[in-house]
Amino acid sequence: MDANRKLSQRNTTLFTQDASMRLSEIVQQRSGICIKTDKNYLIQSRLQNRLIELQIQDLNNYVNLILDDRDEMQVCIELLTTHKTEWFREIVHFQWLKKELAHYQNTSKPFCIWSGACSSGAEVYSLLFLLLKEGLNSNQIKILGTDISTPILDRAVNLPFEPEFSIQKDFLLKNSKNAAKIEKELELALVRSIKFKPFNLIKDKLDLPFKFDVIFLRNVLIYFDRPTVLMVCQNLGHYLKPNGHLVLGISESLHDELPEFKAIGNSVYQYRPRGGQ
Ligand SMILES: C[S@@+](CC[C@H](N)C(=O)[O-])C[C@H]1O[C@@H](n2cnc3c(N)ncnc32)[C@H](O)[C@@H]1O
Repeated sequence: MDANRKLSQRNTTLFTQDASMRLSEIVQQRSGICIKTDKNYLIQSRLQNRLIELQIQDLNNYVNLILDDRDEMQVCIELLTTHKTEWFREIVHFQWLKKELAHYQNTSKPFCIWSGACSSGAEVYSLLFLLLKEGLNSNQIKILGTDISTPILDRAVNLPFEPEFSIQKDFLLKNSKNAAKIEKELELALVRSIKFKPFNLIKDKLDLPFKFDVIFLRNVLIYFDRPTVLMVCQNLGHYLKPNGHLVLGISESLHDELPEFKAIGNSVYQYRPRGGQ
């Protein structure tokens, strides 16, 4: 399509309030992501180019398309999702985990962490670097990274080949006493201690023979409405060991609404199920 035609279509593409509401409802049902009704501009800015690319002029027709086409539904959710992440984001949680690890050092079982909305992987590899720096070897570490978005998980899998990974790795080794051992364990851990998997927090289930010591679920609940937040966290309890921990983003909170999750500070919760199961 030539530039002039693109420009004129941009001006005529129809994003009515009704169509935006229809789209938001569908996206919320599938992904939990809740787009406020006054955020018509957000839908427009994120989807306009896609509609132009598909030569669709009315958002209603695009809504019909995503209902018929699962792949396009994925594309749509992808365009409306925020993947912002960074290495050692919200450092207090890594400082907390460092202290918490003291309880696990002597056990023969691996320390298991789930990063439940891991985006492009910085959270997963930050956790790995911390565990290695604190003396765990690759056999003692199990980290699962999941996200609703498969394109972003592909980026997470390939992050170790990116320059930013080398920078973080150099920093880790430069600041570690056992750099040679850590480097060797890191190579092993990348192969056997880390796994990525698509997972939709609002509808998927994990079938695993073990439970997690810690679940990081940071900076995703802000996109969900309150009932969805509580439902997701309640479900995560099934995957946590008793006395294990759920770590939310600093701006996210359970406000004591789930009694089995006891707040211990900085959006970290200890899971204390009734009957200790
Ligand atoms: C802002 S990023 C947070 C990344 C990381 N946890 C951090 O704090 O840096 C939010 C991630 O949540 C994912 N997400 C959104 N809805 C989801 C759902 N229903 N199930 C699983 N992941 C979801 C998005 O794809 C995105 O990668």
